[in-house]
Amino acid sequence: MANEDVDHGRRRFLTYTTAAVGGVGVAAAAVPFIKSWEPSARARAAGAPTMADISKIESGQMVRYPWRGVPVFVVNRTQAQVATLKMKDVIDRLRDPDSNETSQQPAYAKNWHRSLKPQWLVMIGICTHLGCVPDYVPKIGPEPFDPDWKSGFFCPCHKSRYDIAGRVYQDVPAPLNMVIPPYHFVDDTHVQIGVNPPGEKS
Ligand code: FES
Repeated sequence: MANEDVDHGRRRFLTYTTAAVGGVGVAAAAVPFIKSWEPSARARAAGAPTMADISKIESGQMVRYPWRGVPVFVVNRTQAQVATLKMKDVIDRLRDPDSNETSQQPAYAKNWHRSLKPQWLVMIGICTHLGCVPDYVPKIGPEPFDPDWKSGFFCPCHKSRYDIAGRVYQDVPAPLNMVIPPYHFVDDTHVQIGVNPPGEKS
């Protein structure tokens, strides 16, 4: 899988800043090699879509894809993870369980799973507090930051928590659910990030 970063739930402490600084060194070293790719790199920076091959993403696994300079998390949610989305003891602890804040997702993702298909989450992996990249914590079970953890995302910067649809919990610094970008399924194994499904608007 090219241009992607598999995340098995390991704790990460990356922020935009560290990602950007690291990227400069890599970009400089790779200039001769990627020179012929320059137009598409420029196009990507300007907002071209990203194609994600999801065929190798295992159940419960998350892969990151770069799009417009931000990481897009694609999670192949397990049935157990999907089931947590409707649990009362999760919903009752969320700030915006029904995704009523329209700026945070396209209309076609304003539903109980915040996606086109319950199995697949496609989400910009940026904390809505101050922009850190949250950790994917897939386990369902007690965590030091939440004894009743039901899988989701934990921001190490100031301890914001989100469920496995990116819905933010109450009593954390982050004010909003994480953002769902425009995307659609090209076929069963490819997702195009940055383009709405035919006939749909963001
Ligand atoms: S940036 Fe995520 S909690 Fe502050």
